[in-house]
Amino acid sequence: MNIYSDLLTKKELRNILKTQNQLLFQGDVLPFLNNLSSDPIFDLVVTSPPYNIGKSYESVQHLDDYFASQQKVIHAIDKQIKPSGAICWQVGNYIDKSNQSIYPLDFGFHEIFSNLGYILKNRIIWKFGHGMHARKRLSGRYETVLWYVKSNDYTFNLDAIRVPSKYPKKRYYKGPKKGEISSNPLGKNPEDVWEIPNVKGNHIEKTSHPCQFPVGLVERIILGMTNEGDVVFDPYMGVGSAGLAALLHKRKFIGTEIDKGYVNEALKRFKDFYNGSLKYRSHLKPIYDHKKSPLGDPNV
Ligand SMILES: C[S@@+](CC[C@H](N)C(=O)[O-])C[C@H]1O[C@@H](n2cnc3c(N)ncnc32)[C@H](O)[C@@H]1O
Repeated sequence: MNIYSDLLTKKELRNILKTQNQLLFQGDVLPFLNNLSSDPIFDLVVTSPPYNIGKSYESVQHLDDYFASQQKVIHAIDKQIKPSGAICWQVGNYIDKSNQSIYPLDFGFHEIFSNLGYILKNRIIWKFGHGMHARKRLSGRYETVLWYVKSNDYTFNLDAIRVPSKYPKKRYYKGPKKGEISSNPLGKNPEDVWEIPNVKGNHIEKTSHPCQFPVGLVERIILGMTNEGDVVFDPYMGVGSAGLAALLHKRKFIGTEIDKGYVNEALKRFKDFYNGSLKYRSHLKPIYDHKKSPLGDPNV
């Protein structure tokens, strides 16, 4: 398994994917994309871009400059997405330090994607349990995933992402099916609010990255929005969480990341995947009920 850092042609990229399930590129995503010819290769682009909030890997820009630079990347991505392809763009809120106003970044991204003709299928609310406790506003406990498709000829494998029904034994109480089980035996639609723990503290997937994807979040996206053998791209792959979700479910993965340390960490996680020692939390694992912990008992 290699880390590539020289720009590749589309032919080289396709050749690598004939024998390998992943291609990790260390460098800036924009020249990587601009070096490719225009025959589209991606079935799904799933990513969490820099949020412009001053994390160690980003310098804070004026929002207009931030969206202008993101627009360049999104336009370059658009040229590589197949007509049946999709984009899942995951973002949170930007906080304007001058007046402490929050700006949901998906507002600005929606303009870019809709101007390119993308169709928004869902604005998924990713709800999680851990974060800073705010003092002068409500504590933030969600981010969003914008799921766009390029045309209405898109993949959606609902059965692959069903979750347990609330009342699996419920039966029709009238009509020709009276007495038969009324809920789908495969479970229910997971709906558009997903509670999946974020990777903090002692989460089994924790690496040195300050805001990595939980594999389970991308897993549900990949199972629902792609098929086996499809090519998934993460332009801001960090420590490779989207790639792991892709490999776990027999998809191919291309990831670009500017930080050498994170790419090395991604490579290590890919190796763990291949030798069977990767630790990850499935999207199906129930949320821990904190009331069961002795720490949750006010009388202890
Ligand atoms: C929000 S993090 C993504 C984390 C990732 N989802 C994961 O699970 O680890 C954004 C990442 O984009 C990387 N990045 C920033 N600018 C980049 C650029 N121009 N090209 C490629 N990667 C970049 C940062 O180093 C950072 O790791």
